[in-house]
Amino acid sequence: MEPGLGPQVESFREARRNLEASVLPLATSVDGRRFSFQASLYGLQLPVGGYVVLEGDGTARLGQVITVELDRLSTDVLLPGHTGGAPENRTQVQVRLARGEGTILDGDPAPFHDALVRAATGAEVHAWLQRSARRDAKLPLGTLALAGDVPCLADAGGFNRHTFLCGQSGSGKTYSLGVILEQLLLETGLRLVVLDPNSDFVRLAEMRADADPALAGRYQDAARGVAVYSAGTPGSRRLRLHAADIDPATQAAALHLDPIADREEYAALAEFLAGEQQPTLETLAASGNPEARRLGLRLRNLGVDRFGVWAGAEPGSVLDAVHDQGARGVVIDLGSLPTHEEQSLVAAVVLGDLWRRRHERNPVLIVIDEAHNICPAQPPDQLVAAAAEHAIRIAAEGRKYGLYLLVSTQRPQKIAENVLSQADNLVLMRLNSLADAAFTKAAFSFVPPSLIERSVTFRQGEALIAGKISPQPALLRFGARISEEGGADVPATWAAAR
Ligand SMILES: Nc1ncnc2c1ncn2[C@@H]1O[C@H](COP(=O)(O)OP(=O)(O)OP(=O)(O)O)[C@@H](O)[C@H]1O
Ligand SMILES: [Mg+2]
Repeated sequence: MEPGLGPQVESFREARRNLEASVLPLATSVDGRRFSFQASLYGLQLPVGGYVVLEGDGTARLGQVITVELDRLSTDVLLPGHTGGAPENRTQVQVRLARGEGTILDGDPAPFHDALVRAATGAEVHAWLQRSARRDAKLPLGTLALAGDVPCLADAGGFNRHTFLCGQSGSGKTYSLGVILEQLLLETGLRLVVLDPNSDFVRLAEMRADADPALAGRYQDAARGVAVYSAGTPGSRRLRLHAADIDPATQAAALHLDPIADREEYAALAEFLAGEQQPTLETLAASGNPEARRLGLRLRNLGVDRFGVWAGAEPGSVLDAVHDQGARGVVIDLGSLPTHEEQSLVAAVVLGDLWRRRHERNPVLIVIDEAHNICPAQPPDQLVAAAAEHAIRIAAEGRKYGLYLLVSTQRPQKIAENVLSQADNLVLMRLNSLADAAFTKAAFSFVPPSLIERSVTFRQGEALIAGKISPQPALLRFGARISEEGGADVPATWAAAR
């Protein structure tokens, strides 16, 4: 290095440091709704989704940061000469700073210029939430991720829209879904029907030993109305169906019957179903109609007659509970059924029956965990297609009859597009790819894309919540469960150091 250049490089660095540190945190809004801001990168505390206070013109507004980016601008600096030879030198310097945009949540709706920006305190965010609270019940789901210990309160009334819960495996969907269901039980009168493919909610009515004692009594009361239907449970809570309760199209789907390709057998089935007696293997085998005998063979070959889900001589079925307005929650333990066919059959029958009786207009939240198995984008067989069709119909038209969906899955593209496109609420947990984030952005265009992108950085239990349940999108950390989790993750004791 030339003599004297070292001190000049140091002068350059110092000049740049001073310039970068002196960028004022200032915000401007031309419409009073959105704002643009700049800030120094030193001590930057304005993360995407975080809350800020904008102070100027003698007033303070509360805002939320929606984007933050690194920006650069060039300016000239004059570097002093140094003994040892380096002359005075004018040079260009790139000043790096943060720039971003946000929405104004509260305060004077007039445009403003050069308001000072600072991170809001938890108390300021809390005060705003209390001011803007609607009369609907509030569901404390956890804490806001970027505002200290401020509780995140979802609007219970927003569950009168369909809700989409998404996140990669292990992101905490099922755990968090449990938190939502517990709060709905505690704080609202909304009935729940849960299609539970992994037996995760079979202990929804059982308190954890470490549950908040203040809630324990209330929860016990609320959960008393939860009925769990499992295949292995003896007595009235056995998960069972009567063939007579199943509509002909779903029966045909269970028998892999195509109305065109298998028209004769299909007609024989329709004829039997129109009669007084349910067809049994015996009646079919003894029938004079060769198509009926063929139907009997089909039934036996597919093993449909051996399904454990048939009620047989036992009265009643799970459908009674689904429509029993006295039952606050019905957990349908699909995970207890031994075959995929039986799981799909029960899902199709329950969804079909809820739709069939829609005119009764009894509000119910239909919860479908692992929804890609029940209403997938590409159904693998007729039975799943039947279940998906019912879900799609409920997604499109159920709302006006009080049929609200809450569907949960790992990737947005795995569920039927016509279900996804009808969701007005989003609970987004960690996604493992930007491709999934891009898909979610397209499906939920009302949510700022930069907030959705943040999901790839979420830790377990963190989520973005948006829509009618949270008119201002919020980043939250789900709180602790009150009830026991069901199907536990496989323990990782095999990985313990030896
Ligand atoms: N907020 C939380 N606090 C404590 N434990 C949690 C939390 N969220 C998730 N877990 C635990 O992490 C594990 C995985 O969570 P969970 O089963 O909810 O994930 P998931 O997203 O439903 O995964 P999958 O898609 O595979 O079903 C579970 O053992 C659960 O108990
Ligand atoms: Mg799960």
